[in-house]
Amino acid sequence: MKGKIKIGELTFKPMIDSAKIKSEVKRIASEISRDYATCDNPPIIISILNGAFMFTSDLCRDIEFCTEVAFVKYSSYQGTLSTGEVKSLVGLNRSLEGRDIIVVDDIVDSGTTVAHIDKIINKHNPKSVRYCTLFFKPESYKQSLKIDYVAMEIGNEFIVGYGLDYNEIGRNLREIYVVCDE
Ligand code: IMP
Ligand code: MG
Repeated sequence: MKGKIKIGELTFKPMIDSAKIKSEVKRIASEISRDYATCDNPPIIISILNGAFMFTSDLCRDIEFCTEVAFVKYSSYQGTLSTGEVKSLVGLNRSLEGRDIIVVDDIVDSGTTVAHIDKIINKHNPKSVRYCTLFFKPESYKQSLKIDYVAMEIGNEFIVGYGLDYNEIGRNLREIYVVCDE
């Protein structure tokens, strides 16, 4: 892994290397493959853009069934603090009626976003909905909704890389970096 990086006024140091990410993504993919192995109709994977693009891409390649992948856009976040404000889900243009759904997100922090997405998705009468996230911050989580697949838990710290950004920068990094003192 490389050394510290600067994004805007913040300094970040390496935290999780790509080998660790890869092995956790594989682990989640095999759990999902096993859980849905007996389904006649495989689940629709709904990926939340922009943050989940890299995770979804790797996860889908490790999943052992052939299925639909939809990308939707939703965001409630600016900078390092959750605003708690919500926007709508854009790009959900297929029927979810009677289908099993797996929602894939980059990180669940307070859970505001995932709770809102859950309300929107359930209006489409799916058969079931499960949630999958690359990162989960248990100390920040304020919702009762169950997050079914968690690749990695982290503390209440701010990270970038592998899809996650700081003010839209850093999503392309193959490793995870955490904010630190200079
Ligand atoms: P929540 O609604 O508070 O759960 O926030 C979820 C969203 O906040 C994620 O989809 C991210 O876009 C953003 N977010 C939360 N924590 C981080 C972080 O540590 N780094 C980058 N983005 C984050
Ligand atoms: Mg996001």
